[in-house]
Amino acid sequence: MIKAVGITKKIATGKVLLNNISFEVRKGEFVGILGASGAGKTLTLKSLIGLMDLNAGEVWIEQENNQHVDIYKTKATVLKKLRSKIALIFQGYHLVQRASVLENVLMGRLGSISTFRSLFIGFNTNEKSEAFKALERVNMHSFANTKVSALSGGEKQRVAIARALFQQPNLLLADEPISNLDPKNAKTIMVLLKELSQLFPVIGVFHQPDLCAKYCSRIIAIKEGAVFYDGQPNLDEKTLEAIYGDELSSILS
Ligand SMILES: Nc1ncnc2c1ncn2[C@@H]1O[C@H](COP(=O)(O)OP(=O)(O)OP(=O)(O)O)[C@@H](O)[C@H]1O
Ligand SMILES: [Mg+2]
Repeated sequence: MIKAVGITKKIATGKVLLNNISFEVRKGEFVGILGASGAGKTLTLKSLIGLMDLNAGEVWIEQENNQHVDIYKTKATVLKKLRSKIALIFQGYHLVQRASVLENVLMGRLGSISTFRSLFIGFNTNEKSEAFKALERVNMHSFANTKVSALSGGEKQRVAIARALFQQPNLLLADEPISNLDPKNAKTIMVLLKELSQLFPVIGVFHQPDLCAKYCSRIIAIKEGAVFYDGQPNLDEKTLEAIYGDELSSILS
């Protein structure tokens, strides 16, 4: 479970970037965050992992012992442990270009393996076979030994998703995970995210309301830094117009 309460972020000019955002997402939910460019979607995701210096608000995350922790108030050690269980698929991938696809996936678990073991002993055969299975789920297993620098944007996107799977998270946050993918791969990833939401909450930012209507269990639309809509995923045209304004025609084409 993750719960945002009254998240508010202002900048020195007085502009409000995030305005009193609240929502709760539980296991079994695949939430699609929609909104026009600049609405505050990425900032909302960043605030959920404690990366924002908020003016007000709380973010509660359920720990493995079922206790809830406000990540903006907890100790650094607890925050580090919580973060090692949050899979992030952010714009820009954060992959190591010089390492192979398989090595990048294995890095997904570095937060929970001692530095000594990862640097000097490496990963065991079981871990390698699990990492390979994660690559199979995103159809990237044939690239296991390829250097990431040699991949296309969409292929890198799928490696980032495989790394998130291998991490065995209890929460998954994804910023535009299908934006570089062709329709077939976009569908594969949406099916996978939906399936994963049965194991832990999944929150993704998307620019594809049609795919969200099909695969997400709920939509949260952000407009001018505030929650404009929170509900069932099939949005009518009037609501879409209100969310996107002039951008709607480019979103639907
Ligand atoms: N550090 C910052 N200082 C000032 N303004 C910022 C800062 N970071 C983001 N913003 C502004 O906050 C607004 C929301 O940004 P955000 O990245 O969340 O947009 P978004 O909804 O993810 O848009 P997109 O769909 O284009 O990715 C934008 O207008 C952006 O310019
Ligand atoms: Mg963004």
